This record gives sequence, structure tokens and C-alpha cells, in this order.
Amino acid sequence: MDRAVRRLEPWKIAVIVVSVIVGLALIIGLITFLLCHDQDRYYNASFLITNVNYSPQYERQTTDEFRNLSEDIETMISEVFRGSFLSKRYLRSHVVSLSPDPGGVVASVVLVFKFPSADSEATTWGHVNRVLLRRLKATSTYLDVDQSTVRLTELNKEKGDNLLNNCCGIRRQAFSFTGVERITGGQRAREGEWPWQASIQLDGTHRCGASIISNTWLVTAAHCFRGVRDPRRWTASFGILLRPPKQKKFVRRIIVHERYSDLLLDHEHDVAVVELASAIEFTSDVHSVCLPEATHIFPDNISCFVTGWGALENDGYSVNQLRQAEVRIISTEICNRRQVYGGAITPGMLCAGYLEGQVDACQGDSGGPLVHANSRGIWYLVGIVSWGDECGKRNKPGVYTRVTYYRNWIHSKTGI
Ligand code: ARG
Repeated sequence: MDRAVRRLEPWKIAVIVVSVIVGLALIIGLITFLLCHDQDRYYNASFLITNVNYSPQYERQTTDEFRNLSEDIETMISEVFRGSFLSKRYLRSHVVSLSPDPGGVVASVVLVFKFPSADSEATTWGHVNRVLLRRLKATSTYLDVDQSTVRLTELNKEKGDNLLNNCCGIRRQAFSFTGVERITGGQRAREGEWPWQASIQLDGTHRCGASIISNTWLVTAAHCFRGVRDPRRWTASFGILLRPPKQKKFVRRIIVHERYSDLLLDHEHDVAVVELASAIEFTSDVHSVCLPEATHIFPDNISCFVTGWGALENDGYSVNQLRQAEVRIISTEICNRRQVYGGAITPGMLCAGYLEGQVDACQGDSGGPLVHANSRGIWYLVGIVSWGDECGKRNKPGVYTRVTYYRNWIHSKTGI
């Protein structure tokens, strides 16, 4: 007995005391984390707008009419919450549909908030509903919302995620351009930044980029399949890393533009669509980009992004982590000048980059997306990486397949 008591030396007591304190701290930490940890909560709000007449153009999300009205609705909703006590909790709103009604147009909007997990669903729903009803009346906008039609329902995370991931061209998180790390004109991409980017692989090796346009269809360049059109040898992978990818799919069918030719080296009609053997599971990191309407005009000089696993310099190797570069659309008139491409740019092509060079796509980027975000922050496919004289050379910008020019062809093959 005596000896056992004596064996509890001071350092042992210290160890016991310290472990008790650490244990308590862990428990307290866990409890506060569970109570104060913020959680995304999704709601669906629908209401009737009485002073807008329904137009068939509202059926498709990619029309200018849909974009304009949706943008006004999203701005109105942002004002409603930004000016309220929920301003710090409000994240974003996204119009998912505009439907006809005898009294005008019914808008259905997904709202995303960040609330502490400890707040009960009933409480937060009450807050959001109250602010929505009270402030919709007070917010000055030309839109007349019929108060009696406002319906707010809470969506579970899965439902909310699904609704947003099934909309084309949405980037789920905000990415800021801090800490740019420049390597031959581009930066590394982060997961979820370009969720529509795919890698097209021949016998398991990256060959080209591609863009997801639905859960079973990709669009890419025709020249990627030069020599090998057997779908069984091709696969597609998704996610920013080639190894390991987030998802991988077999290819069922490759449809190359009928008028593309491997022999004529004119790069004309450099477009193909690829049908996958099974559907991609859409997540916030893997989903589709929007295709522009055939009539849409992307103005010269607008900022776009090109992404790919291609070489960092002419004749270099592909990389494992996706990269991005900001480029600007160059008018065909300038691009066809004698010292640039001297007339080689046809109506189905467009140039993007800089006449000074440095920033450009390169080998291995072919087939990949050139995208632009519209005023709602929705991303559209503007071009498909097609060709160029080396990479980043002065007066030799990248040349892309013009998506609006082939929009109807894509629809005729895929139904999209
Ligand atoms: N044809 C190349 C490929 O197969 C892409 C060329 C793009 N070149 C450029 N300078 N933008 O990957």
C-alpha cells in the first residue's frame, strides 16, 4: 500500500492532470464546433411577377430574355437580404425556372444561406420567410411581385445540391484571384473551378480536353481522333487531376463533323461530340457548361478562360493538374492580318489570346473549353481549342472552333 502511494510520483500526476485537461478541451471544442459550425441551407422561393408577360424564350435558360429577367430577379433578391439582418447569412440566389401563368410569370428561385447548425430549421425558415415577405414590398424594383403568391420551402442539402448541379455553367464556390502563381502564362486550377472540364484518353493516356454539355455528352475537337475513331479505345475522366480522377467513363460513340478532314490541314470543322457509355454523376466539382444560342455574339476583347492539362511550352509534356489562363477574344479582322494568320481564319473559327504572345493554350489542350461568364456569373462555352502556330508566340494567338457557328450541328447530333 505504502509503496503504491509513493509510486504516484509528481510527473505522473502531471501527466494525468494534463490528459484530463486535454480531454476536457477536446470535448468542449467538439461541442462548440457542433453548435457554432456554419452549414449551408437551401430554400426554394416561388412567386408570381404580374407586370411581365410570358415569352416562349423563357423556356430555355440560355436565351438573352431568360438571362435578363433572371438577373433582375436575382438582383432584387440580393437587395432584399443584403439590406436585412440576414445580410451576413445570405450567400446567393439562382433562378431555376420561369413559367407561364395567366397572371404573368412564375419565378422559381433557389436561395442559399449559411446558418449555424445549432439554429433549428423552423427558426431559420421563419427568418428567411419574414425578411422575404417584408422587404420584397419595400425594395424598389420595376418588378411587381404578388405578395400573396410567395411560397418558401426548405430544401434538404441533397435536393438543393441537385438543383444547382443540374443547371449548366454554375461554379459552386467563389474563386478569387489571389496568390497567382504564373508558369508560362497560366495558373493552376482548383477543384470545382472548371467543373465541365474533361480529359479524353486514348488507351488510358491523356490526349485532349473536352467539355461536359450533359450527363452523357461531351464536346471536343475532331482532330483529337486523328487515326483512331474506335470508341472502345477511348475513355473520359473528370476532376482537376488526371491521376487520380474524380470519375471515369467509357465512350459509347464518337461523332466527328462530316466535313472535317484529317488530310486537308485547313483545321476546318474541327468539332466532335462524344457519347459516354454511362451517365456522369453530377456534383459541385463535375457538371456541365452552358452552350450559347447560335445567334449569340461574344464581343471582341471580352475576357475568357482557357483550361487544360496541355504542355506549358511548345513541344512540352502534359501536366497532372489542370491549368487555366485568361485570354481575350481577338477580332477575325485583326487575326486575318498578313502578319498574324493571313486569311486562314474562317467563319467557324475565332482567335483568342494576345498579339504580344506569352499566354496561350498549347499541345494537349486541344478539344478543351474556352469559356466566358455572363453578367449573372453563368459560364458559356465560346470556343474549342483547335490550333495555333506553336504556343504563346508573338502575333500567333490561339485559334478556336467557334461554338455558336456549330451550335445547330451539336443540337442535331445530341439533342442538346
Ligand atoms: N492542336 C493542339 C493540340 O492538339 C492545340 C493547339 C493549340 N495551340 C495554341 N497555340 N493555342 O493539343
